[in-house]
Amino acid sequence: MAENNQNAGAGNVPPKPKPAAPGAAKPAAPVAAKPAAAKPAAPAAAKPAAAKPAAAQGGVYKPPVERADTNPFKDSKVSPVGAWFQERFYVLEPVIAYLKKKEVPKHKLSFWYYFGGLTLFFFMIQVLTGLLLLQYYKPTGAEAFSSFVFIQKEVPFGWLIRQIHAWSANLMVGMAFIHMFSTFFMKSYRKPRELMWVSGFVLLVLSLGFGFTGYLLPWNELAFFATQVGTEVPKVMPGGAILVDILRGGEEVSPETLTRMFSLHVVLLPGLLLLVLSAHLLLVQVLGTSAPIGYKESGMIKGYEKFFPTFLAKDAIGWLIGFGLLVYLSAVFPWEIGVQADPLGSAPVGIKPEWYFWAQFQLLKDFTFEGGELMAIILFTIGAVVWGAVPFIDRKASREEKSPLFTIFGLLVLAFLVINTYRVYAEYSAL
Ligand code: HEM
Repeated sequence: MAENNQNAGAGNVPPKPKPAAPGAAKPAAPVAAKPAAAKPAAPAAAKPAAAKPAAAQGGVYKPPVERADTNPFKDSKVSPVGAWFQERFYVLEPVIAYLKKKEVPKHKLSFWYYFGGLTLFFFMIQVLTGLLLLQYYKPTGAEAFSSFVFIQKEVPFGWLIRQIHAWSANLMVGMAFIHMFSTFFMKSYRKPRELMWVSGFVLLVLSLGFGFTGYLLPWNELAFFATQVGTEVPKVMPGGAILVDILRGGEEVSPETLTRMFSLHVVLLPGLLLLVLSAHLLLVQVLGTSAPIGYKESGMIKGYEKFFPTFLAKDAIGWLIGFGLLVYLSAVFPWEIGVQADPLGSAPVGIKPEWYFWAQFQLLKDFTFEGGELMAIILFTIGAVVWGAVPFIDRKASREEKSPLFTIFGLLVLAFLVINTYRVYAEYSAL
């Protein structure tokens, strides 16, 4: 650590003068803290004095980390504000130097690298617009729907914020799916990026959780009955009734369910997502961006570009396009508010979940035989676990060898999702 600290300042100040005799110039505290065995003559007397911090002996407290006595950045060429931060965060200097060197490979599939950043962009939009909606939204059975109507009709630009939040949620999930499949087909999950894949997979599950819990918040008829169908699903599993009870806060969907979905949507899920997202992005920075298998060896890499600022600037162009699309969709294709939920009323026709659950929804509808629903849940769970563990199963890719069997597996999963989603779309749009 002490070595790192010295390195951190090395670029800006002359190197520290070398001690005249090794060991002699070391500060008093670390030497004194050495085991008593080093000074067999007076072990008992030396130990307690060494353990006491300097402050306790009346002097100025010194942190237990060895660092230069004077400001190592005093001759630095940066502004006084920059120097203030440099002196305090000097340990980050190697990190900054590393990030400055970070490069992204350029090849015919580079385009797909932008979808992770786009997912991140739509997530940031969600946080911002969600916070604004929270200023007026009231999460109770009596007020939820009317507060939505108020936001949509009375609050200045409330309609825009609400529409952007709804559209951005869909775009975020859509981008996360594109990002997941593009990293899958480029085998970006291969060694040493296994945890990037696993953390990404958890992010997708959390994003779907956001969609599911947010759906009920307007407390309209469609959301109410869709949540009733969605929260019913675990019932077919052994012990699933307890899970249904926990999710609903009772046997039926009620205002208690709204409270639960609300707390999950604005507290638990954002907290978890931020934690996992930090790990995901840290791994991206530490391990860098991968190129598809064999591209380097066969000369298909056209060069490298700096992440800061070149790639990030291109990312920003993607974000601007994404923002334009978001505002366009919000203004031209607004989401409806619907009619207030009536727990005692009968379900309208055509109840279906959000589009990103349609594939599973269709699977449940297809397995109509005795015990079919349970089998569909088991099949889907096994599929999801295998998908999440792909980096550990695809040994060929981890040896930098092509793995066509996994490409076929990915194509089958994609086909399952697309075909089943389309089937729900076709059936329900005809109603
Ligand atoms: C909230 C959701 C997510 C966000 C915000 C996010 C963000 C990012 C970003 C910014 C990058 C770097 C740029 C890029 O390569 O696109 C990245 C890389 C990566 N992500 Fe995600 N991601 C998310 C979900 C996922 C999912 C669902 C998976 C897969 C299950 C995944 C797997 C990966 C992998 C393997 C890489 C490394 C790509 C490479 O090295 O070439 N991510 N992610």
